[in-house]
Amino acid sequence: MKGIVLAGGNGTRLHPLTRAVSKQILPVYDKPMIYYPLSVLMLGGIREIQVISTPDHVGLYRALLGDGSQLGIEISYAIQQRANGIAEAFLIGADHIGDGSVALVLGDNVFHGPGFPTLLQGLTADMDGCVLFGYAVKDPERYGVGTTDTTGRLISIEEKPSAPRSNLAITGLYLYDNDVVDITKNLTPSPRGELEITDVNRVYLDQGRARLVDLGRGFAWLDTGTHDSLLQASQYVQVLEHRQGVRIACLEEIAFRMGFIDAAACYALGAQLGHTGYGEYLMTIASQGN
Ligand code: TTP
Repeated sequence: MKGIVLAGGNGTRLHPLTRAVSKQILPVYDKPMIYYPLSVLMLGGIREIQVISTPDHVGLYRALLGDGSQLGIEISYAIQQRANGIAEAFLIGADHIGDGSVALVLGDNVFHGPGFPTLLQGLTADMDGCVLFGYAVKDPERYGVGTTDTTGRLISIEEKPSAPRSNLAITGLYLYDNDVVDITKNLTPSPRGELEITDVNRVYLDQGRARLVDLGRGFAWLDTGTHDSLLQASQYVQVLEHRQGVRIACLEEIAFRMGFIDAAACYALGAQLGHTGYGEYLMTIASQGN
């Protein structure tokens, strides 16, 4: 399975913060926002990842992440000229996807919870149809909302419904088989001029090939698109990291624990960061070998 992080968009809700810089490069506590969605793909065992961003901002991500070899993965870059919709990622990324399956994650989504890596690795190993992830929220009318039958099969999707049929918001992580490319090629833009991810998901739903996995109440799915949600995400990460002494979405640690790099490489990445808490954390993990 290939991975895509979609890190374009206009970030208008965060103006003036995002007048001159890309939203997904902003800090969520101690690391750039894009680390969080990237960590999701890596924890799913995905090692070939394309980062899609705007013509003005793609260079920032290249400067930050390089070709990914330091993390034992391959990162390539592609440009989305305008914010033409989330589903455009499958057209821009068609060559990257090739003839296999793909996981798309939005660059401003933070996922954190127990058992998530195991869940993802089970799902990414063998993809047929599509898998979406639902999260119970108190204001489902702000989101795409899904309902399932008792087996977890998706039976309805509503976009920002005034009377939602469930409280399960559809999150910004989507797994698809290779049909997603052809399905997207046949889409027409919505009235707001975008290729809508919901329209892709509706095709799978109509075919009876869409599943919605409820992430459950012990999980955190945080959005970072507004000033308040960005600050709250930082506070969430700060509280857990201080309390537990472990780091969330630390890419170098994940690369080490997933076996993408060895202890010596992890230690060297820590040493490069000098006497920062982040660097010392990496050196400690690498020295302990766990
Ligand atoms: P949105 O939150 O829908 O849009 P945005 O990030 O531009 O922010 P705002 O609404 O404040 O203007 O996007 C969700 C994520 O998807 C975000 O990480 C940006 C990304 N995205 C793209 O990269 N290209 C697109 O065409 C769209 C619609 C979103």
